[in-house]
Amino acid sequence: RRRVAILISGRGSNMVSLIEAARAGAFPAEIALVVSNRPDAAGLDRAREAGIATCVIDHKAHPTREDFEHAMDAALASRGIAFICLAGFMRVLTDWFVERWAGRMINIHPSLLPLYRGTHTHRRALADGVLVHGCTVHFVVPELDAGPIIAQAAVPVVPGDTEESLATRVIVQEHRLYPQALRMICDGTARLETGRVVFSRPWDASGSL
Ligand code: GAR
Repeated sequence: RRRVAILISGRGSNMVSLIEAARAGAFPAEIALVVSNRPDAAGLDRAREAGIATCVIDHKAHPTREDFEHAMDAALASRGIAFICLAGFMRVLTDWFVERWAGRMINIHPSLLPLYRGTHTHRRALADGVLVHGCTVHFVVPELDAGPIIAQAAVPVVPGDTEESLATRVIVQEHRLYPQALRMICDGTARLETGRVVFSRPWDASGSL
């Protein structure tokens, strides 16, 4: 089984869904480490309760982004990590770190990319009046939220929706989608090849709908 690290900054609900999926039955990955850049991230307690090794690498304790990332990289190497899942990890990563983990680092984003990169995705979707919204799992590339797409899930936007009600509808799908995408990269069903995702079983590409 592939050893996976989850990087978080906050609540960690996607982290919990990955931990649970990896523990339920045959799954090609084990969650070997949770790293938080914030000592007060609520997700840290949830990881500890689940018996997962945790590690805090406080970006504020490192003078530069490069120092911070070297410390993270060392922690990942010492645990023999093969893949990284970003799950509400709110630090922009340098090209150095991203290139080092190219094809082995994925992120979940709360919109149907390439729409609404960045923050406040639900607010912006509501402001635009779109009727379909959702979430995306993608390989991480240096450009923010611009990496090749592995899986997406769509939800309707309904009359009366608020940022909160829409976020709640989307996160249910995030919790379903992220383990599915992690499975695909760990068992080789989805691979990054020359900047594109190649699906070894092409029907899986639409399986996320
Ligand atoms: C999730 O909605 C995730 O998609 C989003 O932050 C939330 C984290 O929640 N990620 C981003 O916006 C990344 N740019 P969680 O900590 O409960 O998983």
